[in-house]
Amino acid sequence: VRKNVVILGSINVDIILKLTRLPKPGETMKIQGLETAGGGKGANQAIAAARSNANVHFIGRVGDDQYGKMMCELMQKNGIDIEHIKADKDNPTGQAYILLQDSGENSILVNSGANASIQEEDVENARHLIESADVVVAQFEVPINRIIEAFKIAQAAGVSTILNPAPATKVSDKLLELTDLITPNEVEAEMLTGIHVDSLKAQRKSANKLQSKGARNVILTLGSEGAYYLTEDNQEEAVSALKVKAIDTTGAGDTFIGCLAAKLSPNFDNIAQAVHYANKASSLTVQKIGAIPSIPAEKEVLKR
Ligand code: RIB
Ligand code: NA
Repeated sequence: VRKNVVILGSINVDIILKLTRLPKPGETMKIQGLETAGGGKGANQAIAAARSNANVHFIGRVGDDQYGKMMCELMQKNGIDIEHIKADKDNPTGQAYILLQDSGENSILVNSGANASIQEEDVENARHLIESADVVVAQFEVPINRIIEAFKIAQAAGVSTILNPAPATKVSDKLLELTDLITPNEVEAEMLTGIHVDSLKAQRKSANKLQSKGARNVILTLGSEGAYYLTEDNQEEAVSALKVKAIDTTGAGDTFIGCLAAKLSPNFDNIAQAVHYANKASSLTVQKIGAIPSIPAEKEVLKR
């Protein structure tokens, strides 16, 4: 059965600057090349879920401009329902400047644009979609109050919620209490709990702390270290990452979350299977440049 996934999230155009290293203050430096690709945490997660055969509906905003048109077309081509993506007359499509170093590491500068102007009515207009979804997913590139509004609708309708607390931001316990599954990476986990997750013991402690604040299930995404999960009924596992050469890690975390949304059953009884699948998928994303161009389809993941 195809899962019904609603994503409330950001849409960006990623401008990728290839560099040998980061410039110093005051330095002028040539770059090795420039590429543009579709991105934004929300759009990346939506594409990952759609390519893993979920039925995806998106709530968000782009600008009334070329980039906005390009992103809507790209999402629609991937089978995503874009009816609730609004073209904002006053703000441009979000842009992310990605400083990609030879090492595969990146630094990202974001101009939120239209993503920051999503209004309560945008969520309200999609109420019927949220109420009939299997899962609602959100990240922190849209206003936090919109996430609270969407998650309240979901919770009242018995629809599960996934919060990807990225980029790292402090959150209120009010939002965590509306969260069925939270998926921080190591930086975000430390921001939310104060715990540096460098051992299995620390990972468990961090997950316990997030649970005590209200999030019912926790998955820590740990980059080249893999992932760790702890469920409400105390199922726990540390899953190692696949060994691959990273060309560009942009969108790997988003691939993981989108795939989880597509595969995880509402009562989490297949969490081991879903996490292993998501882990494989994100190992494919790091091997190509760009976020959306590198997100794999289900048949590629299953071959891995
Ligand atoms: O998570 C990766 C994404 O973060 C990029 O695609 C970029 O748009 C930023 O939003
Ligand atoms: Na990539």
